[in-house]
Amino acid sequence: MHHVESRATLGGKLSAVLVAAGSSVGLGNIWRFPYVAGDNGGGAFLLIYILCVLLLGLPVMVAEFTVGRASKRNAVGAYRALNPRWSALGYNSVIAAFLILGFYFVVSGWTAEYMVHSVTGSLAKLSSPEEYGSVFQNFISNPWRPVLYTALFVLLTHFVIALGVQKGIERSSKLLMPLLFVILIALAIHAMTMPGSGEGLKFFFKPDFSKVTASTFLVALGQAFFSLSIGLGTMVTYASYFKPDTNLRHTALNVTILDTMVAILAGVVIFPAVFSAGIEPSSGPSLVFITLPGIFNTMPLSMVWSAVFFLLLVIAALTSTISLHEVITAYLHEEWHMSRRAAAWATTVATMALGAVASLSLGVLGGWKICGLNIFDSLDYVTANILLPVGGFFTSIFVGWRLDKRILKEQITNNGTLKFRIYKLYIFLLRYVCPIILLLIFLDNLGVF
Ligand code: TRP
Repeated sequence: MHHVESRATLGGKLSAVLVAAGSSVGLGNIWRFPYVAGDNGGGAFLLIYILCVLLLGLPVMVAEFTVGRASKRNAVGAYRALNPRWSALGYNSVIAAFLILGFYFVVSGWTAEYMVHSVTGSLAKLSSPEEYGSVFQNFISNPWRPVLYTALFVLLTHFVIALGVQKGIERSSKLLMPLLFVILIALAIHAMTMPGSGEGLKFFFKPDFSKVTASTFLVALGQAFFSLSIGLGTMVTYASYFKPDTNLRHTALNVTILDTMVAILAGVVIFPAVFSAGIEPSSGPSLVFITLPGIFNTMPLSMVWSAVFFLLLVIAALTSTISLHEVITAYLHEEWHMSRRAAAWATTVATMALGAVASLSLGVLGGWKICGLNIFDSLDYVTANILLPVGGFFTSIFVGWRLDKRILKEQITNNGTLKFRIYKLYIFLLRYVCPIILLLIFLDNLGVF
């Protein structure tokens, strides 16, 4: 086995939290969460979501941290070192990271393009909602512009990864995460002062349980896993850089709280705006790219708000693409014995190619279909509905049933220096609750129910 003696470690306590939060907080929080909540009953969804995060997301995140720090290896090497028969779970992570990046880079590219258009003022020139819709449609199906922005975003990610774990990943998170919070809070305060914002806040916070069905729970859990970046080895890879005295439970709790706060604040920014413009809250994935720019346009200083909002999305996306890129780079570097530089370039070139194809599949390559879906949608479908729940399921089975309990206790208590009072509850959640619910989600996604 390849030994990694000179492995990088992250600096202080805060670094572990900020780096992991950088991965978690992403397009999943700001782009996806608001429209999923809007489609599934607003406040009632929020409550169920929080329940999923605490009961299922948190234990799995601690489980991934344990695997990463106990082995100090990339996702494949980590599972292999702990139990050679489980290395498939690591491969699932690397493949999923690659496929997620295939569509995530494309949407990240859109956010960069929209930021540029906000600054140049071309977004502010449009007037009717239809115009915003057709501009978006034309943009994503254009044969070269979105590909160019996707490529730019990949290179930006590459640049950070190439700087290394401490100088690249750690420093960028320490700079970008606080900036993200400041922007988000400023936007939320602004949104709350808009006329008619009360309606939006009521919709978002007042639970309406008549909209809750069994599938609401499943949607909430899928969203929770995606948003927290768990189930697919990202947190294994990051935790492999944690210091021996990092408190895994506190780190996971802080990351979870930050991630959930960002999702809630994104709702606080978006719903008042949507309601003040008299638009249906459940307008799907285009909410951020069509509805919002139109709303910004009606506000004083529209260019500033829209540029700042898309900057927020760019930052959130970037710290997440960095984490997904690192899963693959660390794997190639450690398992294939490539230099870190070569590993990073290989990842960059491969994800750029996949991203370009995914982007073009919304336009000229629309005829390329897998089971009736274009490439972009297939990547989203396969990762969110298959690889992610499968990864989460086996992660909880592995840590709950297979992993030596001494290793688990050693990691969670930092060799006995921390107390672990809820051990029994933790094992119960990991052994029974998480796998059963993840299995239900998986079957539901495949249309079994
Ligand atoms: N959590 C990120 C978001 O909310 C996306 C992400 C990064 C992710 N790494 C992941 C999702 C690993 C699943 C697994 O946008």
